[in-house]
Amino acid sequence: MSRVRPSTSEGGYRGESFSLIIFFVFNMAGNTKIENRSSFDTGQAEEKFMARAIELAKLGMGQVAPNPMVGCVIVHNGLIIGEGYHCKYGETHAEVNAINAVKDMSLLAHSTMYVTLEPCSHFGKTPPCADLVVKMKIPKVVVGSVDPNEKVAGKGLERLRSAGCDLEVGMLEDECNRMNRRFRTFHQKKRPYIILKWAQTEDGFIDKSREEADFGQPTWITNNLSRIAVHKMRSDEAAILVGTNTVLKDNPSLTVREWSGNHPLRMVLDRRGILPATSAMLDQSTETLVFTEKEMESKPNLEYIRIKFNSNMLSEINTILLERGIQSLLVEGGKSLLESYLREGLWDEARIYIGNARFGSGIKAPETDWVLDREEKLDDSLMRIYYRNEEGNQESRITDGRKN
Ligand SMILES: NC(=O)c1ccc[n+]([C@@H]2O[C@H](COP(=O)([O-])OP(=O)(O)OC[C@H]3O[C@@H](n4cnc5c(N)ncnc54)[C@H](OP(=O)(O)O)[C@@H]3O)[C@@H](O)[C@H]2O)c1
Repeated sequence: MSRVRPSTSEGGYRGESFSLIIFFVFNMAGNTKIENRSSFDTGQAEEKFMARAIELAKLGMGQVAPNPMVGCVIVHNGLIIGEGYHCKYGETHAEVNAINAVKDMSLLAHSTMYVTLEPCSHFGKTPPCADLVVKMKIPKVVVGSVDPNEKVAGKGLERLRSAGCDLEVGMLEDECNRMNRRFRTFHQKKRPYIILKWAQTEDGFIDKSREEADFGQPTWITNNLSRIAVHKMRSDEAAILVGTNTVLKDNPSLTVREWSGNHPLRMVLDRRGILPATSAMLDQSTETLVFTEKEMESKPNLEYIRIKFNSNMLSEINTILLERGIQSLLVEGGKSLLESYLREGLWDEARIYIGNARFGSGIKAPETDWVLDREEKLDDSLMRIYYRNEEGNQESRITDGRKN
């Protein structure tokens, strides 16, 4: 059963609506729309510019980690004269791309920059953006949110302020923060942002009861569009984890095949070292970690990591991921593993795909009573999205009756 959160005006910016993304991808070419200030009051117009910067930032999804997604527009006399976003890790930042997109550089000294995140102040793979803004004499900068990364955290703002720049901080801050929730969770909570995902039938089953003869592939619950959405989701996250039985029964590849993008780091629990070497996710085709208690020999793209399978295990995995700079983790089942995360309250977001079949019996999905954030229709299936930090979603009711 789900309770539904009352809708808010920010709905369009909250997450990565799959259908909206499909629409956007096909409408990208030459889509810089210049809005004339006369059609808005000033406040509304300014938010429109920041909203445009957010829209641009999201185009970097799946490409920029461990950096945050950032978008930027430069406005002169109510017109956008340059815009850009951080497209790929290691490449130029949004502010640089926006400045480079301006044809008449002399206008910069009379323009306002709208940028979704505080400009950086340190030398990383590229020089500090705050210095460039000062060098270009941009007199006003409107910032969406402050950077939680200790290397920046307020220092970029200070650099601009001390150079005499007129600063406004916090425009559409919630949207800017939510967009970079993976990056923010990583820096603030010192662990990856955790997304639980499963597919269930209309009557709440994640699998049929199967005989061993039927093992080797997952039970089909939703449809093709959901499958594409899941592959896109994988490409958006840094790592993906499954339990031992899921590999034994479903033999998933856990790669990105129905969408273009990076494969996540694949991970599986194999305490007893029982997974067959022929398992699809052990094929060494892409980087894979196996957590085990056994002494196992690592191979190229297949690393065995010995951990203790005790009550601290999930935190230990988080620490390993933190050390490797992994900012987001997708937990794709099965039931026991999902329930372990639920019991420990170690999750930030849940995506539940609901197919229209009814199994009548089988393996029950984790039972929840969360406040629904939103629902998307994917042909004859649904995807429901929940956020743990919503009021009412702090506790997780799960099927074994224990609470986190
Ligand atoms: N519909 C979906 O979205 C979906 C997705 C994935 C899986 N599934 C289904 O889920 C079923 C498998 O679920 P499952 O619950 O049997 O197994 P699972 O969650 O895939 O794996 C559980 C096993 O992982 C190991 N493990 C070690 N530490 C654990 C911990 N802290 N928490 C959880 N597991 C730990 C244990 O094996 P050891 O005793 O060897 O340590 C445990 O028995 C399959 O039928 C599969 O088809 C459905």
